[in-house]
Amino acid sequence: MTDIDTVAALIKSGRINRVVVLVGAGISTTAGIPDFRSPNTGIYERLKPLNLPYPEAIFHINYFQHTPEPFYAIARARHPRTLKPTITHAFLALLAKKNLLYFLFTQNIDGLEHDAGVPEDKILNAHGSWQTQRCWKCETPYPDDLMKQAIAKGVVPYCQVPDCGGAVKPDVVFFGESLPAEFDQQQKKVPEADLMLVMGTSLKVAPCSVLPRQVHLGVPRVLINRETAGDFGKRPEDVCILKNCDEGVHELADVLGWADEMGQLWRDAVARKEEVQEDWGEEESLDELIDKYAKKVKNSRNISDGHKRMLEEHLGQKFAGILAPGK
Ligand code: APR
Repeated sequence: MTDIDTVAALIKSGRINRVVVLVGAGISTTAGIPDFRSPNTGIYERLKPLNLPYPEAIFHINYFQHTPEPFYAIARARHPRTLKPTITHAFLALLAKKNLLYFLFTQNIDGLEHDAGVPEDKILNAHGSWQTQRCWKCETPYPDDLMKQAIAKGVVPYCQVPDCGGAVKPDVVFFGESLPAEFDQQQKKVPEADLMLVMGTSLKVAPCSVLPRQVHLGVPRVLINRETAGDFGKRPEDVCILKNCDEGVHELADVLGWADEMGQLWRDAVARKEEVQEDWGEEESLDELIDKYAKKVKNSRNISDGHKRMLEEHLGQKFAGILAPGK
């Protein structure tokens, strides 16, 4: 019996009714968004040309408050406007359709679970989303159309409130920020699960990384991921399917006899997303955007004095030097 057969048998037994799912960047890599930590392909390794103090700084609130430029330089490559749900997202929608999905925690900010058809009340976007934005300083919301223009052009949008001057930030959770208040409430569902499914995450970032450990002992935990993660494999009831998510859910759907239904959900979701495609001008890859910004910073002998003062004040002379090597 393969691991896939084991999981399919559990679901077929009819004893599984409350599947709690946790997903991460790995379920969206086939949609065209790189994950964070995979060697070579992950965002953090590819950010090297930017000479950030450390790669995660680009998503750290303290860094963003003073140096929002790198975030906006690559924002358009991470914005979900052109992305289409993957077959894994369709599998999640199918779990919901079959009344098996108890709750879905996603660390992704691309909204593809929603686009695939998972009902909104079953999803917690634990790390926020691109749907809304506000000034980091005074928290005044910022108009969607101006935000879109800023992301498309790769420039920093600033607060419109007179004398505020804070950079606008999408309502995604940066390092150093709290998760949505709803997280505490929803995580109570984890010990109520009769199966936990974890897909496409390295389980390196708390607090989502601790969710699988909150599942009751004896309750099956299933990991579909390219590599092992967290404490998976430590419990006798763990099932680790170490392969691509799309491949794993395909095989599972085949054994369950769900493949046609899943394929239909996926095609419908893709068609819905194609209908709302907007023109954002010429596409540039993440590497092109990184390269362009790295060159700009390197060649720049004129980061404004105010900007430099802020960097020196808050990040120290060393980092200001990195960002303005010409001076
Ligand atoms: N199929 C299966 N696994 C995949 C695939 C795929 N197609 N693509 C990538 N993976 C795996 C990688 O091997 C890795 O184990 O998915 C995992 C992705 O891990 P991370 O890059 O660390 O992403 P994630 O776990 O979502 O990161 C959590 O970190 O920087 C923050 O806020 C960011 O939400 C993010 C959080």
